Amino acid sequence: MKKQHIGFELSVYDNKEALSQNEQKLLSEAELARENAYAPYSNFKVGAAVLLENGETVIGNNQENSSYPSGLCAERVAIFQAGAKYPGIGITSIAISATSKDYVVDSPAGPCGNCRQSIIEYEQKQKSPISILLRGETGPIYKCDSVADILPLAFSSSFLSDS
Ligand code: THU
Repeated sequence: MKKQHIGFELSVYDNKEALSQNEQKLLSEAELARENAYAPYSNFKVGAAVLLENGETVIGNNQENSSYPSGLCAERVAIFQAGAKYPGIGITSIAISATSKDYVVDSPAGPCGNCRQSIIEYEQKQKSPISILLRGETGPIYKCDSVADILPLAFSSSFLSDS
């Protein structure tokens, strides 16, 4: 038996001004998108903004439902919309911003497991990394260079056949 360490380097920024202009813009779009979330059950609003290689941005926000599992996270609303609107166009990055009606979200909320799996599908398909920018309402900003970093040992289509 041997033990293998799996880790990654997270970039931590103290404030928005420390980001590049493009990253600041993308995060601002996620913050704006979050305001239109439909989250009457959790009071937890999430916004996501996806940047594509053609320079376009696609946004999403969480859409809840009285039948709870029927709702969808912001990240998947955004990434699926990007796939629907711009099929075949590479995805560069996704910014995610979270806020709550009940308390100040002062640390970045990472995407849930289902969203990581949904985003990594596009990363695997395009064979280039999708970076992730995360922020609460205030506080530090985290940047992961690739979804694979936060979904180690990910499932992929390669398991579905032996070729
Ligand atoms: N939520 C997201 O939109 N993204 C995540 O990655 C985690 C959670 C939403 C789902 C639900 O509407 C609310 O946050 C509380 O879980």
